[in-house]
Amino acid sequence: MLSIVVCVSGGGTNLQAIIDGIKKGSIRNTKITGVISNNPGAYALKRAENEGIPAFCVSPKSYGCREEFNEAFLEKLKELNPDLIVLAGFLVILPEKMITIYRGRIINIHPSLIPSFCGTGYYGLKVHEAALARGVKVTGATVHFVDEGTDTGEIIFQKAVEVLEGDTPEVLQRRVMEQAEWVILPKAIDEIAMSEQGEEKT
Ligand code: GRF
Repeated sequence: MLSIVVCVSGGGTNLQAIIDGIKKGSIRNTKITGVISNNPGAYALKRAENEGIPAFCVSPKSYGCREEFNEAFLEKLKELNPDLIVLAGFLVILPEKMITIYRGRIINIHPSLIPSFCGTGYYGLKVHEAALARGVKVTGATVHFVDEGTDTGEIIFQKAVEVLEGDTPEVLQRRVMEQAEWVILPKAIDEIAMSEQGEEKT
């Protein structure tokens, strides 16, 4: 059984897609053992609580300095001891130590076709604003492993989404979420869980 911790900062629609995928069986051999948010007001925490999933808020604002937050965040992860960490709209710079400890076991969903519209400053609506400003006809989402860079790790899955005439950033964001993010993130988790199950059997 793949144990996952999902890190969130906002509405949690990607978390909900994972919860729903596990329930309907499209994500196999997986259990969410915890949800961590840096934002006490994140609706994602409510989604976790609604499902009886342990939900924790570890906010940089609650600590005297970044180092203290990093230690508290790492301590919570150690306590939950996940096989895989899923960053689902998580707007926090990860402690370098975390990348080292969990190398190859952290994945992230980014709302563009990397290498377009990614890297520092490209998150949330800003990504879609940039895509519309550039005039691309196709955008999409990417699931990738997390390394020391920003959106630079090995790509796992991508899914393209059409940009339509008159799209606003909000309308485009919603289409990318519905048609891409909520499809490829659960698919990536299921693939990792099933390959891990295969390893368990050998
Ligand atoms: C959204 O901008 C999404 O595109 C990105 O993270 C943000 C929050 O998503 N992946 P969620 O609803 O909290 O999953």
